[in-house]
Amino acid sequence: MFKVKKMVLALSLLLAFFINATAQSQSKEDACFRPGELWMDNTDTHVNAHGGGILVANGRYYWFGEHKSDTTSSAMVGVMCYSSSDLYNWKNEGIALSVVDDKNSDITRGCVLERPKVVYNKKTKKYVLWFHLELKGRGYNAARVGVAVSERVTGPYKFLRSYRPNPGIYPYNMSEEQKKMTLDIKDYRKSWTPEWYKAVADGLFVKRDLQSGQMSRDMTIYVDDDEKAYHIYASEDNLTLQIAELTDDYQGHTGKYIRVAPAGHNEAPAIFKKDGVYWMITSGCTGWDPNAARMFSSRSIWGPWTQHPNPCIGKDADKTFFSQSTYILPVQEKKDAFIFMADRWTPRHPSNARYIWLPIQFKDGIPFLKWMDKWDLTVFD
Ligand code: GAL
Repeated sequence: MFKVKKMVLALSLLLAFFINATAQSQSKEDACFRPGELWMDNTDTHVNAHGGGILVANGRYYWFGEHKSDTTSSAMVGVMCYSSSDLYNWKNEGIALSVVDDKNSDITRGCVLERPKVVYNKKTKKYVLWFHLELKGRGYNAARVGVAVSERVTGPYKFLRSYRPNPGIYPYNMSEEQKKMTLDIKDYRKSWTPEWYKAVADGLFVKRDLQSGQMSRDMTIYVDDDEKAYHIYASEDNLTLQIAELTDDYQGHTGKYIRVAPAGHNEAPAIFKKDGVYWMITSGCTGWDPNAARMFSSRSIWGPWTQHPNPCIGKDADKTFFSQSTYILPVQEKKDAFIFMADRWTPRHPSNARYIWLPIQFKDGIPFLKWMDKWDLTVFD
């Protein structure tokens, strides 16, 4: 009898030790980022929040992104929300903004709804979700921005409207000379010629779209230290980025906007600010295929913006490590800690697209990105 008791005790101790050991290794395993690998949420499913962005609210991180299905890149579900206290482990909070079955709605199921970003407005106490919207069945021609609001961070968000920003208004940094130029798209039937590039840089597409409002595709939203918010987006047939000021409630555009890198062909803008300098990382325009990242800086959101070399270094730097920028996250309670978030698209199986998160490093004050198979937040210490 005594022997049996002893054996049971020994077995229980062994079991307890085993459970403890696995628990430890599990939590240790989880407390890191593994760029490009499957990233499981609390339900053991790969996080489905592509082209996304992160908002900090009530002491938690909220990750919003495009829900991608297995077979199409169109929006069959909407915008997903996940939350986390440590950035490693994510809880599925469900659909923040749902597409609808009403065929007359701008956000009808099967539309293109990309690059969602949520910001919190202190005045209205509302969360505002902005996204790139393409109307169903019209390819990428609509080039609109969409906006939705909610009183709760996780939603449900109520869709307000979609439109092209700032109709009838010229960019703030377009010269008087450029405004007066007669640039007519009919005179530039052949694209990509030096004359065409010059015309695009001078505002050929700004003028073409003056009445309808400016095209708005890949986008992010940036809230500055003074609470002013800006919409940064690929405009003018993706040839030129624009930065537009949002109204005080963050639900509309004020009419003030600039052009950045005219005819430079940038998209996928992601931005952060350090020591009074705005840094913006973008990509070139090759659809779902990766290309070399670009980087710009400015001391004012209104420019002038200066272009720097590709911030990526080392192997596969010319392909941004096979990814495309989407957001730059300032890590809470760590000084000068920023995470570059990017997507490694897999258009044949969109939901399988992976996340490439890398710490932004600095050399002589200039940001750079280097591949890491595995890393954690202690890199910032
Ligand atoms: C990429 C863009 C993505 C998506 C894709 C569609 O250039 O960054 O968000 O729009 O094109 O081809």
